[in-house]
Order: sequence, then C-alpha cells, then structure tokens
Amino acid sequence: MDKNDKLSKIISIAKRRGFVFQGSEIYGGFAGTYDFGPHGVALRRNVVEEWLKSMRAHENVAFLDSSIFTARRVWEASGHVSGFSDPLIICLSCHSKLRADHLLGGIGIAADEKMSEAELNELVDANRKELTCSVCGKKTLGKVLQKNLLATATLGAFEEDDEHVYLRGETAQGIFINFKNVLDTGFYSVPFGIAQVGKAFRNEISPRQFLFRKREFEQMEMQYFVRPEEANKAYEVWKKERMEYYVGLGVKKEKLRWKRHEHLVFYARDAWDIEYEYPFGWDELEGLHNRGDYDLAQHQQFSGVDLSVLDEKTKERYIPHVIEASAGVDRTMLMLLADAYDEDEMGGEKRIVLHFPSRVAPVKIAVFPLLRNKPELVKKAREVYEEVKKEIPDTMWDNNGNIGKRYRRQDEIGTPFCITIDFETLENDTVTVRERDTGKQKRVSVPELTAYTKERL
Ligand code: GAP
Repeated sequence: MDKNDKLSKIISIAKRRGFVFQGSEIYGGFAGTYDFGPHGVALRRNVVEEWLKSMRAHENVAFLDSSIFTARRVWEASGHVSGFSDPLIICLSCHSKLRADHLLGGIGIAADEKMSEAELNELVDANRKELTCSVCGKKTLGKVLQKNLLATATLGAFEEDDEHVYLRGETAQGIFINFKNVLDTGFYSVPFGIAQVGKAFRNEISPRQFLFRKREFEQMEMQYFVRPEEANKAYEVWKKERMEYYVGLGVKKEKLRWKRHEHLVFYARDAWDIEYEYPFGWDELEGLHNRGDYDLAQHQQFSGVDLSVLDEKTKERYIPHVIEASAGVDRTMLMLLADAYDEDEMGGEKRIVLHFPSRVAPVKIAVFPLLRNKPELVKKAREVYEEVKKEIPDTMWDNNGNIGKRYRRQDEIGTPFCITIDFETLENDTVTVRERDTGKQKRVSVPELTAYTKERL
C-alpha cells in the first residue's frame, strides 16, 4: 500500500467510524484541530489509562493536574518566551506559511527547528535553486524567521484590564512550578517523579499529517527528580522502560527505533526520541530528555523561591536534576491506528480491519442477535449483553443491518470478539464467538462466556 494512500485511508476510516473528525468541520475546518468521536474518545481513554498504569507501577511517582492558564512569568522563566520557536518561511508568490526545516529536509538537507535563524538562512540561500514552495511549486521563498510557538489568550472582564496570557506549551512547566508543593506534602523525597496528563497548545506554523502535528494536543509527561550524580543512570533506566512500554503495548517492534537529537532544545543536556514509522515515515512519538537543573534553577531565579533540597547526609543543599519522559496522546493514537490498519479478504470478501491490541481496542466485545426481527433472539441477546457488560464494560450492543455488515463494521473499529445469539442458543444455551483476526467461530456456553472472552482479551 502506498504510504500517502495509507494515511488517507486511516483518516477516512477514522472519520467514517467515529474516531476523529476535523475540528470545526461544518464551518470548513480549523487547521491543526481535531475532534474525537465515540470510538476516538474510548481509544484516547485507553491510551491514557495504559500510560497512567505504567506510571502507577512506580511507588515514587506522584500525580498532578496543573492549570492551563499560568502566570506569564512561568514562560519567561522557562525560556519559552525567548527560545521556543519554529523556522517560518513565506512563499512570496502564494503567501503560504511553511516550515523552512521541512522544506530543506524535502531536498535531503538535514535541518531542524533548533538551528538558529542565521544557520537556516545560510542553508536556504545555498540551496535556493532547488527549493520550491510545497504549495504552488514556485522558487519564490522569502527569508527564514524564527517564530515563537506559544499560543496566547486574553483574560479579563474589561478591555483596559485585559491581560494577554500564554496557553501552556508543555505540561512540564506545571510540574516544575509545583515541585516544592509536592515535596512539602512530606510523602516524597528525591528521587521521585511527578506525572501529569493534559492539554498543551502550540502555534504550529504548518500543522500537518493528521494527529501528528496539531495546535491543541494532549501530553502525558513525567519529570523524574534526581541527585545530579544519579541523572545519567536514571536517564538510561527511563529510556529502557519507555521503549519496553511500547513493545508491551503490542506495537510492532520493527516500527520503533531510537534517534538522538543533534541540535539540542534550549533546556536539554541530552535528548533522544522514540520514533515510530508512521505512514509518512519515521518521526517522533515520545521525547526523553535529560533537562539537568535548567528548569528548577530558572524558576528559582525568577520566582525568588528556594527550590533546592537538603542532602540529609552532607547537609548541603542542591537543585535536583530532571529526567523527562514526554509522550503525546495524539501521536500514540495515530501510531495505534497506523499499526492496526490492514486490508484483507475474509470469506471471499474484502475487508478493512484494525488489529488493535485488546487493551486499547475501544470496543472489546460486540453482542447481537442473528436476526433483529425475532423477539425471542433479541430478548436472549439483551440478557447475554447485559451479563457480559457487567464484567467487561467496553461491550457494545449492535443490532443494525445484517450479520455480515455487523462483522465488517466491528472489524473496522477493531473489536476483538463478536458474540451472536442464534436459534441454537435458545435450544442449548450456547452462542457463537467470532474472532476478529482469524474470523474463526466457536460455540461457547453462556455461563462460560465471560470467562472465555476475558481470558483471551
Ligand atoms: N516537555 C517536553 C516537550 O514538550 P516535545 O518533544 O516538544 O517535548 C513532547 O513534545 C511530545 O509531545 C512529543 O513527543 C509528541 O508526542 C507530543 N507533541 C509535541 N508537539 C505536538 C503537536 N504539535 N501535535 C501533537 N503532539 C505533539
């Protein structure tokens, strides 16, 4: 399957089956935003729950839910006001706003957003003959300008009081500014982590590739605070754990790899990405950063609040170093959709199927009567549905269309098992359990049904 073709097919099934809709679609769409439908919400919830589970496995990881609106000073201290930017280049013919590093990448020149404006302008100038606008195809590109990514909002009831504030560009800063609060609860001491899931906002120049680069997205971030001399070791431990996490989630191992950053973002001492091979190529899924003492030292300086901790042995104070694991809910969803998407043939018919690992599948089991116009079948099917749903909440009642259509529809949302109640059920209390991946069907007795499916999910 052609790579671009695969992305369009994923976008299409995601819309058709209620995973992802374009934001503000009935008004022509709003770039960089997406809305999540019933199965998208369930997939998202499962993505977040798996991540939370992996963090809860650590006795020394605390959880936080910090505000999106934060004081301006937070972003001045963090360095985002001065140093958080992407290189913008405008086409002088069609006025499209493009990413200079992406255009350079397109002609095989290694460049990224962390390079300076001067470095990027030099590369663009040296390659002007080859560089074309990706929208109109003309060689009329202007100069590169580093453009700040923080999105702003206005708060205040009266115009004269209005205050322009930044929407958070990463959830991490909420963690740093609450580091002392969590420490002061008395339940945690270094080394310990603080984790949170929440929305982040970036004024991306060219939001693209579906869920990959959005302007409003959700992060799952964990900052691990350690003694400075423990930072490198902790970094390796977290890197290993995070890669194993994705393999454990059921993602194809050969589609995951490590990539080290050549140019470091302003806060990082070392940075590695876990990359996934999306339909449009390898790109970042999760970033692991050794942030040193950059953030706490900055906030200490800007706020005047002492953020150091006491070493009980030496009685000296030090600022902990931070190891960060930063994953995106949206990119994880895109990865899961791409990893699961398949087209095959079953029973002589072509089908689209999403081979989701059971733990993230939005619907685990669908229950239906063989015929919707036979009250005795519908009655029994409802009884079975209600019993199974008690134990497996992601169980769905599906009574629309004929049985073939129901199977196709459930395959397209990645439901691992379909249960059909037929006339034999009324005679011997057995049902048909059909497996998504193989299409194999097995008769299982109703009293054993929940245990049978639970074991295989
Ligand atoms: N706190 C560090 C940080 O924010 P990042 O590499 O800029 O680092 C971390 O972002 C993760 O957040 C990425 O690996 C990705 O999963 C997600 N992410 C970043 N920008 C995104 C965007 N525009 N759209 C969707 N997800 C994004």
